[in-house]
Amino acid sequence: MTDDALAPAYPLFRRPDAYHEKRCASALRNRIQRWSERRTLRALLGSAEGIHSVCDIPCGIGRSFELWAAAGLSVLGVELSPPMAERAERERASLGLPGRVEIGDAFAAREGAGRADLVVCLRFAYYFSPAQRRGLLAALRERSRRYLLIQYRVGNGILGRWKSARAEVRMQRRATRAKHACPWEEIRPELESAGWRVLRMRRQSPLSDRVLILAERSAWKG
Ligand SMILES: C[S@@+](CC[C@H](N)C(=O)[O-])C[C@H]1O[C@@H](n2cnc3c(N)ncnc32)[C@H](O)[C@@H]1O
Repeated sequence: MTDDALAPAYPLFRRPDAYHEKRCASALRNRIQRWSERRTLRALLGSAEGIHSVCDIPCGIGRSFELWAAAGLSVLGVELSPPMAERAERERASLGLPGRVEIGDAFAAREGAGRADLVVCLRFAYYFSPAQRRGLLAALRERSRRYLLIQYRVGNGILGRWKSARAEVRMQRRATRAKHACPWEEIRPELESAGWRVLRMRRQSPLSDRVLILAERSAWKG
């Protein structure tokens, strides 16, 4: 692993209320995005067999906890920012969702870390370079008994190319917040090189550049 992979720079979120307002309660565009993300997540969840637990990492404020509760799963939420984790823990308790939320680093694959049947990673991987993502994918593997559900952005297509060009400009202003698209055809080899076998890949909507990927640990024998 390169130094680049070991030192990812991404800010910790400190304002759970602002995140909730932006992602869960605001503009029509965000609501549509959330609806299409949920619809795709539900469809992919339906392809994961025999799952009882989910590790949501980073879980932020627990934006997806409702989904895990509806699917009858228990949750291990992992988040590095204490105020975000506190808010997620409150969300978990208010939903009566079994499990816990802990403070932890998504990139740290420490031995004995909590594991789950399915690891879910939303709105995170595409903030990192391919080398950093490989480090992330390896760390997530340590937390999964079988499945991974991860969100990428693809750079293909007119919309994807336009967004990639916009990201380049943003990167020059604020490197930590720029998004890294991954061409559709490079997703499978990237996951495979980190020990994951891709089962399904689905765009969130025909126009979206976000893709949800369901993968399985490549050594999984059933
Ligand atoms: C864009 S939010 C996404 C949260 C959640 N997955 C969602 O979809 O709402 C990214 C979150 O990652 C957290 N974070 C940043 N670096 C992290 C790290 N190394 N390990 C765990 N969490 C981290 C931030 O504090 C923030 O809450």
